[in-house]
Amino acid sequence: MSANDTTEPNRRDFLYVATGMAGAVGAAAVAWPFIDQMRPDASTLALASIDVDISGIDPGMSVTVKWRGSPVFVRNRTDAEVEAARAVELSELKDPIARNANLPGEEPATDAARAAGGEGRENWIVMVGVCTHLGCVPLGQAGDFGGWFCPCHGSHYDTAGRIRRGPAPENLPVPTLEFISDTTIRIG
Ligand code: FES
Repeated sequence: MSANDTTEPNRRDFLYVATGMAGAVGAAAVAWPFIDQMRPDASTLALASIDVDISGIDPGMSVTVKWRGSPVFVRNRTDAEVEAARAVELSELKDPIARNANLPGEEPATDAARAAGGEGRENWIVMVGVCTHLGCVPLGQAGDFGGWFCPCHGSHYDTAGRIRRGPAPENLPVPTLEFISDTTIRIG
């Protein structure tokens, strides 16, 4: 092997390194405009709240709406579902915290603290439909507790959306909401 044979690859290596660096700088330069575009503008922020017409949702029926990019379950629970949720002792819960954005602090996860509408509207439950394990969308009225079931890794939620069995660590979160009329819920 001659001296030229050994130096030639080294020079070529240097060229590769130099080209690679130029590529990296180029990638950084084009990344910024994309990040800048990801800031929400005024029209996006206007969608921060949605109004859901619940007039056609009879007991035993649900709808799934999209809010801030996530599914939200709105369910008019049957009396049996409410009774089943109320019968659960707090000591039986894997996550004893209500996870309700409408309540101050960390209230216990009673059925009343999870239900959406307060006095006289305890049949309504509204929750972000994203499994608290790894983010799959649970199936409604399924699983061992008749609430929601996440088939990805087997998490069972009860009729108040509280995690009861499986790997999910927390109850399905209740978003900020209010009844703006008897037939409309504002979420967000
Ligand atoms: S994502 Fe729901 S159980 Fe894993």
